[in-house]
Amino acid sequence: MAETNRRVGRVDRTDNTRRVVDRDMGAPVDTSEISHPLVARVYDVIVPDRLLFEPHRQYLTRELSGRVLDIGAGTGANFPYLAEADPTVEIHAIEPDRHMRRQAVAKAREYGCAVDLRDARAESLPYPDDAFDVVLASLVFCTIQEPDAALEEVARVLKPGGEFRFLEHVHADGWRGTGQHVLNPFWERVAGGCQLTRETVERFVCHDEFAVEQIERIDRGVFPATPIVRGTLRRRRHR
Ligand SMILES: C[S@@+](CC[C@H](N)C(=O)[O-])C[C@H]1O[C@@H](n2cnc3c(N)ncnc32)[C@H](O)[C@@H]1O
Repeated sequence: MAETNRRVGRVDRTDNTRRVVDRDMGAPVDTSEISHPLVARVYDVIVPDRLLFEPHRQYLTRELSGRVLDIGAGTGANFPYLAEADPTVEIHAIEPDRHMRRQAVAKAREYGCAVDLRDARAESLPYPDDAFDVVLASLVFCTIQEPDAALEEVARVLKPGGEFRFLEHVHADGWRGTGQHVLNPFWERVAGGCQLTRETVERFVCHDEFAVEQIERIDRGVFPATPIVRGTLRRRRHR
């Protein structure tokens, strides 16, 4: 696990901040610290990950090759699955909350997952254009502060023809959707900023730079963080 130790925290914060300002033509995004120590401590205990998400994490991490980026890696829930990938696969991840990151480092060590884990936000990825073959997002577009900016960044860092694989909970229809609206102000406080009411799939499929390969809606799950949608988008070959 020396690899993991060596690589953690290598992000250049100065460069990161500059890129935020450049992209928005002088209108900087929220750069306040993301820090939820309690959520980080209880996340793996209260989320029955193997029970709820194992097949979905297997879906996200299937047949990987080349360079892979996991955005908002949290406690490293995808790392046990990424550890099973072919050893030639180069695994990168970003996570802005240092409490989450600490757990992710421990998880990477435990499962022998050699990952370059950096302190960064999805809205300002510290990588060049066309850097990755696959970008993974699991349960993270509900929490990212500027989801449109983050999606632009995913498109930018993906190679033409590269895959964006996601697993997200989204806004429900009917009474469940109304319930999510009512609960959201409380939920975002206790769940580290997570939003129950995001129309994430619409955001993804409407983006010009992606073609939809597959989208699956899964209604099983635990209210209010349902339904869950998983899918694969492919970065179009032209810019
Ligand atoms: C619900 S957790 C999901 C973690 C993990 N991907 C999983 O599948 O379990 C959401 C994560 O997004 C991170 N996050 C919050 N804002 C972010 C941002 N702007 N960019 C990237 N990650 C962010 C949080 O710190 C948290 O670790």
